[in-house]
Amino acid sequence: MTVLFCDLVGSTELSAQLDAEEWRDVLAEYQQTAAGAVARFGGHVAKNLGDGLLIYFGWPTAREDDPERAVRAGLAVVDALAPLNATCADGTRLCVRIGMHTGPVVIADGGEVFGETANVAARVQGAAEPGTVLITAATQRLVAGMFVVEDSGPHMLRGVREPVPLYRVVQPSGVRSRLDVAGGRLTPFVGREVELATLVERWERAADGEGQNVLVVGEAGVGKSRLAYELRERLATTPHTWLECGASPYTEGTPFHPVMALVAQGLAFTTTDTATEKVEKIERGLRDLASPENVSLLADFLGLPLPTPFTMNPDVQRRKTMELLAQWNLAISTVQPLVLLVEDLHWCDASSVELLGRIIAQSAMARVLFVATTRPEFTRPWPARSNLTTLQLARLTKCQARDMIATLAGTELPVATLDVLVARADGVPLYVEELTKAMAEPGAALGVEAIPASLADSLMARLDRLATAKEVAQRAAVLGREFGYPLLAAVAGMDDAGLRQGLARLVDAEIVFQRGEPPEATYMFKHALVQEAAYESLLKRTRQQLHGRVVDVLREKFCERVESEPEVVARHAEAAGRSDDAITYYGRAGERAQARSAHEESIRQLQRAIHLLETWPASVKRDEGELSVQLALGGSLIVARGYAHPDAAAAYERAAALGVAAGDAARLGVARIGLAICYFTRGEVERGRALAAEVLAAAEARGDRELALFGHTEVALSEHYQGKFVSSLAHCERAIELYDPVQHHGHVRVLGNDQGISALNFSAWSLWCLGQPDAALARAREAVALARRLDDPFSLAFALLFEASVHILRRDVAAQRERATEAVALSETHGFPFWLGLGRACHAVSRVVAGDFGALPDILSGLALAAETGTQAGAPSTFAFLAEAQHAAGQLAEAQGTVQTALAVAAQTGQPFWDADLHRLDGDLVVATGGDAYEAAACYHRALAIAREQGSRSFELRAATSLARLWRDQGKRPEARALLAPVYEWFTEGFDTRDLMDAKALLDELR
Ligand SMILES: Nc1ncnc2c1ncn2[C@@H]1O[C@H](COP(=O)(O)OP(=O)(O)O)[C@@H](O)[C@H]1O
Ligand SMILES: [Mg+2]
Repeated sequence: MTVLFCDLVGSTELSAQLDAEEWRDVLAEYQQTAAGAVARFGGHVAKNLGDGLLIYFGWPTAREDDPERAVRAGLAVVDALAPLNATCADGTRLCVRIGMHTGPVVIADGGEVFGETANVAARVQGAAEPGTVLITAATQRLVAGMFVVEDSGPHMLRGVREPVPLYRVVQPSGVRSRLDVAGGRLTPFVGREVELATLVERWERAADGEGQNVLVVGEAGVGKSRLAYELRERLATTPHTWLECGASPYTEGTPFHPVMALVAQGLAFTTTDTATEKVEKIERGLRDLASPENVSLLADFLGLPLPTPFTMNPDVQRRKTMELLAQWNLAISTVQPLVLLVEDLHWCDASSVELLGRIIAQSAMARVLFVATTRPEFTRPWPARSNLTTLQLARLTKCQARDMIATLAGTELPVATLDVLVARADGVPLYVEELTKAMAEPGAALGVEAIPASLADSLMARLDRLATAKEVAQRAAVLGREFGYPLLAAVAGMDDAGLRQGLARLVDAEIVFQRGEPPEATYMFKHALVQEAAYESLLKRTRQQLHGRVVDVLREKFCERVESEPEVVARHAEAAGRSDDAITYYGRAGERAQARSAHEESIRQLQRAIHLLETWPASVKRDEGELSVQLALGGSLIVARGYAHPDAAAAYERAAALGVAAGDAARLGVARIGLAICYFTRGEVERGRALAAEVLAAAEARGDRELALFGHTEVALSEHYQGKFVSSLAHCERAIELYDPVQHHGHVRVLGNDQGISALNFSAWSLWCLGQPDAALARAREAVALARRLDDPFSLAFALLFEASVHILRRDVAAQRERATEAVALSETHGFPFWLGLGRACHAVSRVVAGDFGALPDILSGLALAAETGTQAGAPSTFAFLAEAQHAAGQLAEAQGTVQTALAVAAQTGQPFWDADLHRLDGDLVVATGGDAYEAAACYHRALAIAREQGSRSFELRAATSLARLWRDQGKRPEARALLAPVYEWFTEGFDTRDLMDAKALLDELR
């Protein structure tokens, strides 16, 4: 029993200050407030001594979490006095001291309690500072990790011989553990000395501010969770916060599932909390981090309704949420060292794994010990670090297994039986326990024949002896390893009394563990393998029916869960053989994940839906269903894997085929636009253009403005690469007219890019090529401004990079560098590999051109990063920028090689848009290397011909300037002048750009 003693501080002085009546009122109010706070946590006021209160937790009703309740009640009493003080007039200040202790008591028939425990509690109270809660080591041991405590050191208490270590409770750490559900009834721990010592050593380092991460790897049942539990036992009297969560197979594809549970626990949410109360708890729980934005982020993360709905870009929101969660973890560890345990990582969703990676990366200097358990199939996605340790758990030795069996069986077993048991259990402690129990329980037959051959056999033998409880276990197993009473009651179709009794027997037999009391209780099978064995023992038909019932019950009575965990419904529906429902809910789960920018999970869910659809016989309904799913899948694939990835094209291709079959023009159009982008991105430019043009034609025929917008934009992009600048610009202009950010920005989800930004960007490039450098810059700036207004980092990175490249074209190195710097910073924060690579390259180009030749390797590594995405579109221009930089740095042979590569890529992928300038560059390099003048002239002539054919005045000007320079050097000044003058005179703007100034200087010289 835990005894709480609470006393009013300075009551003698207070009573002297007030008149008798006032004093009586104050006292009554205090007693009422305190008793109210205690009652909330289920405490029993045993004695009311006026200004002192004696409270029991554990009698007349005992609960497994009594010590925790007592400590929470203590804190609540302290807190409850604050509002009371606020209403008190004339400076009356009430303050309490609280002490508690946990220990054995003897209770007489009349309810009188005997024993030392209450006395110790009273003495501890006396040692407490006013306004604080002080507990003994005995109580702290039972609540370790759940509260932030300060070690007050050992105290001598009157009537107790040894000094008693005391702890001051500062606040709840907000944690509830599931380990202690099994508490107190575990098989004595054997072996694992080295592993435990390693964990303890890592803990010590972590507590010292050297963050540590340990991955405990081993097969099911080998003792991973138990090892973590033993660590926790070791830490029982050390101040720390213990946070814990676990993943489950039902929610492998639900973003952040375990983390959400962890945060909800961490904030001490209860089932009765209203949304407003939860938001208040978030504000308190975030402490220093509780800005309005952070509170909204966390509320949204937990699925709470927001007063004003979020309009944040999902990518940004996801990143900010991740950052906040990581920071929050670190913040917790500043109060006292934090142990973060994540169980069963092999079932963890991709987003949680990503978050954990961040925590690992950020906690090197924090007081955090991160421990994760996993089966061997999990491949660690985090890079190796000196503070990341992997502990492989091997099976127990025969000798250790014998030790376990000896304690479990209680009686001496015949040697033959023992040997067979050891052999069958094969060193897996879970098997050792289960097989031994199957034959050591009352009612079991003894002897070698009675030893079950497997875990399943053993469980069946045990369940058979539990009569009706067997059915309860089997039905519960359908719900997964963890389940709540209300859902089980609704699904099981058994009478309440029978169900409760069955559950009680299962708890007694330690087949399931219980937390709380029905109807609020939640249960957990002792082990995932035990749950699986119970599940497998059901007939397939019964199993299906039960899963079907789960689906129905969830839909009828658990709407919130259906909303927040559609994957769970989908999985039950799939197991029930109700694939139409399963598809619907996988689809929803996929969309939900996508809306949170959790693309890996979204892909996973949508692929499951498609997989099920494939089993359906051909029908219009089937095709329509698959069409939506494939389109959604395409949207996630382009973000997660890039346009050039074959899976993305495959999804759009399939969607297009289905769109044709279904005669669904609108969705067919979207699918084909997606496909067109895939084609030209991976280097099939004409194929992409042709497809986009078809979509455009169809859209115009039907008067579909939205699809026409997409069509114009994508035709414009591919035509630009094809060097059809005039036509490309015209399509851009049409697209810009049709575009409305409010209506169309949302399509960024489906198509990856904002169509308005794309059109502005490409019109800027075309304008430059066509000889309007100032108009080009204005356009590029418009795109940047639009992206800033949209608050969409991806579009902004895209627009910044285009503005930077317009500066390259205008040879404005400083502006180029400025834009590239911003694009790089943005892409680094958000993880846009393509823009990051190009941005770094662009930044490095500006440095090289300005004379910092050491930056050359940075261009190459930037381009290599961008190339990893497989994007071929636009490659010739990037090569051209590289070649110019190499030229500037005097790496002439390398520059020539780059030009040749660029021309080859252009020819191969059908993007001659930079050919003119590449040939001009080629000519410049021939001159620079002292090559043949005829050869150089030939290059320039080729460049001129292409530029004229493509209508590119800017490239024509560059080629003409180069050739005129060559002719000047050959003494052909009139020819040179005749060539360059008309080209230069054509221009009406951009006279302050480098190319025009160079041409002008040359012309002046030739006059
Ligand atoms: N070293 C050990 N000594 C005694 N019992 C153990 C030991 N390791 C595991 N067990 C028991 O075996 C069972 C399975 O262990 P558990 O930690 O749940 O396995 P895992 O998490 O690896 O799947 C638990 O009941 C646990 O108490
Ligand atoms: Mg485990």
